[in-house]
Amino acid sequence: MCGIVGYVGSGASVDVLMSGLSRLEYRGYDSAGVAVIDAEGGLYTRKRAGKLAVLAGDLEASPLPESHVGIGHTRWATHGGPTDVNAHPHLGDEGKLALIHNGIIENFAVLKAELVEAGYTFESETDTEVAAVLLGREYRETGDLLAAFRAVVNRFEGAFTLLAVHRDQPNLVVGARRNSPLVIGLGDGENFLGSDVAAFIEYTRSALAIGQDQIVAITPDAVEVTDFDGNVVEVEPFEVEWDASASDKGGWPSFMAKEITEQPDAVANTLRGRIAADETVVIPELDGLDELFTGINRIVVVAAGTASYAGLVGKYALEKWARIPAEVELSHEFRYRDPVIDAHTLVVSISQSGETMDTLMAVKYARENGAKTLSICNTQGATIPRESDAVVYTHAGPEVAVASTKAFVAQITAIYLLALHVARVRGTVSTEELAGFTAELRAIPEKIVTVLEQTESITQLAHWMSDSRAILFLGRHVGFPIALEGALKLKELAYIHAEGFAAGELKHGPIALIEPGQPVFVVVPSPRGSSTLHSKVVSNIQEIRARGARVIAIAEAGDAAVLPFADTVIHIPLAAPLFEPLLAVVPMQIFAMELANAKGLDVDQPRNLAKSVTVE
Ligand code: F6R
Repeated sequence: MCGIVGYVGSGASVDVLMSGLSRLEYRGYDSAGVAVIDAEGGLYTRKRAGKLAVLAGDLEASPLPESHVGIGHTRWATHGGPTDVNAHPHLGDEGKLALIHNGIIENFAVLKAELVEAGYTFESETDTEVAAVLLGREYRETGDLLAAFRAVVNRFEGAFTLLAVHRDQPNLVVGARRNSPLVIGLGDGENFLGSDVAAFIEYTRSALAIGQDQIVAITPDAVEVTDFDGNVVEVEPFEVEWDASASDKGGWPSFMAKEITEQPDAVANTLRGRIAADETVVIPELDGLDELFTGINRIVVVAAGTASYAGLVGKYALEKWARIPAEVELSHEFRYRDPVIDAHTLVVSISQSGETMDTLMAVKYARENGAKTLSICNTQGATIPRESDAVVYTHAGPEVAVASTKAFVAQITAIYLLALHVARVRGTVSTEELAGFTAELRAIPEKIVTVLEQTESITQLAHWMSDSRAILFLGRHVGFPIALEGALKLKELAYIHAEGFAAGELKHGPIALIEPGQPVFVVVPSPRGSSTLHSKVVSNIQEIRARGARVIAIAEAGDAAVLPFADTVIHIPLAAPLFEPLLAVVPMQIFAMELANAKGLDVDQPRNLAKSVTVE
């Protein structure tokens, strides 16, 4: 949600900023802008509504002067619509200072009133301009950007990452963060700031993670991080594990197409190093942390959107293997209902970005109320893992398409590993059982490859169905979260009304939606898991078929029972029933992407969305 980049060094700042913004565009894409300072101390800004390409075209047609310092922003609008005027950067100190912002300054109206009263005027409707003007006023007092930051940051309520440059300090970029992401990239004679490491991965893999309520000042040769009161703080260095090519399209028509096909690797990489030679689960990051799992009587998973569906799959695994009550709650609902949690509760958060504000706030709430916290996260250096007692990283690699695919299968893989780890620590599964499960998990990547081989026929199906107005998804047991995810993917990518239901719920209401021709995807559970459950879902298929539904069944290879009743059957390879979500979700992702493609939509950047939702 808004991408931010800052640069100071010897490179051409506009190029560095635009390259960083192109890798951050998934965070928001309704407008973009840059501000740079040239050798003569002139401050230049350029900002345009629309995708980054609009700004790029503008800069090409009319280049900014050569410069080696600057800030850039790609926006997901909160206050004020996506217009040129509301785009960032915003100016303060009579145009000498430029500022960009990610987040929401909740008390901006009060601050604005104060500034208006003092005679300041505003051009935009944004909270960001208020911050720029306030910072500019402070700069006039202090003549020092860092001092001005320290003087104002505590006046802002809400969430923010702010970056600013001032033309009178032309070798300096200053940033501050509260509840919003910011990382530092360390170069040789140059330094970078970014919402995430993608902002500077083309130039350096050495990074520093900045903590909450901290201010950073970068010059070409130095980086200084302090708290809001000016005390120098130690920051955690890390090496980014992936390189720039991992976040390129690499010849694929879209990031989404690329990321769907990367799913075998996402699972394999998340398993790597976590299954020992004797087939038991060993999660090195959890070494010495057994007390997280022994002294608890409950696990609460908090997450939003797709990540919450990974959590729902995890609930089945945690309860089945670790025999511990597990519940899943949408992170944005969690802290507002006074949940019962204590030192015997483990709160597991799941987040691809590690920055989702709803989930971050749920984790903080859990900690403040005495619970233990563990994060499942895909992004190194992100805030949520740093706010948690422990982290299990997923290794899906950078996910650029806004709608999640490979991160989802990696999240499910990680929560399976976690459930098996907890089961081992608590002694609720035998060594033989564990070995059986891990052997099954190891085989999943190859099985996903088999599902991907059906891309062509699923594409054809999606093209045939491209004029559908509503599509329903049914599933049961671990197939239920997959039905929810299938519906979400279709809504997000193809803008088609889609609903996921637990198949057993059908007769309690949703069956009224079935009319002749209504397409319904059904995730059919393996008869090897529970033949009763399987036959109940087959009965559900018959019930909707009798009312004219057009049934697309996703069933395991060799399941003959569905054949007479389904219009289309997509087969997935045999796997242990609990692991089927990792296979069953793939056809749904391909279907949603291809249906969106058939409608000529942008599958990487669906309308109104942003990848990293850093506002509540
Ligand atoms: C859907 C999607 C979102 C995210 C949700 C949480 O395709 O990507 O629903 O899953 O916004 O994001 P993270 O995982 O970054 O916390």
